[in-house]
Amino acid sequence: MGKITISTLDRMKTAGEKFVCITAYDATFARLVNEAGAETILVGDSLGMVLQGHDSTIPVTVEDMAYHTACVARAGGDALVIADLPFMSYDRPETAMDSATALMQAGAQMVKMEGGVWLSDTISALVERGIPVCAHLGLTPQSVNAFGGFKVQGRTPKEAKSILADAVEIQDAGAALLVLECVPAPLAADISSKLDIPVIGIGAGAGTDAQVLVLHDLLGLSPRVPRFVRNFMAETGSVQDALAAFVAAVKAGDFPAGAHTYD
Ligand code: KIV
Repeated sequence: MGKITISTLDRMKTAGEKFVCITAYDATFARLVNEAGAETILVGDSLGMVLQGHDSTIPVTVEDMAYHTACVARAGGDALVIADLPFMSYDRPETAMDSATALMQAGAQMVKMEGGVWLSDTISALVERGIPVCAHLGLTPQSVNAFGGFKVQGRTPKEAKSILADAVEIQDAGAALLVLECVPAPLAADISSKLDIPVIGIGAGAGTDAQVLVLHDLLGLSPRVPRFVRNFMAETGSVQDALAAFVAAVKAGDFPAGAHTYD
């Protein structure tokens, strides 16, 4: 397929072809994720939990993200590299500009940030200056303290309406991708069908345009996992085969199944 760009992902959405995102934080796993055929790699701030041992993503810094983004970028490969802007590194457009610059200079091709309407000006400012943006709605882990835990979002009609309004707003502001985390499957399918930009789901059912999982979760290395995770290592036996099985399952529409989905 060659180097994956935003246009590739847009074309895949239009054609109804699912694409895959897997997190990676270093060069070796980034190479394996590329070899498995995932279209996108997310250098997630989940590294705060799976690499650094914190119980949330809040302690992660821009310096941490830049270091791991550079490690992933050195692997090369065709996958589009998305890097998370960590907690409070994009609270204002000016701060976001500095933080996003650091990640793009480290090798990211897109930055991801958690939030909706309040991010419109920030998204427009970054996009106008040539920095592609992926937004993240639903269960946004940097807001775990405001949510009172890692809880499914969008279950009431009011919450669902607000997530949909946020999604439309961030698309209008210029976001190129949206991650939807831990929302009921019907809401995620509705948002995916209403937006022109591709939607990547995690714990959001099978109706999104793409799926993402945290590397350590799909490899069965995490001590506790939410119900939306499937252990692909248990079914295969090697890291390479587990990654390939995840990619194949998403593309075939076999993952996520009902057991991995919230209603
Ligand atoms: O940080 C991360 O890995 C993420 C995914 C869970 C989407 O944001």
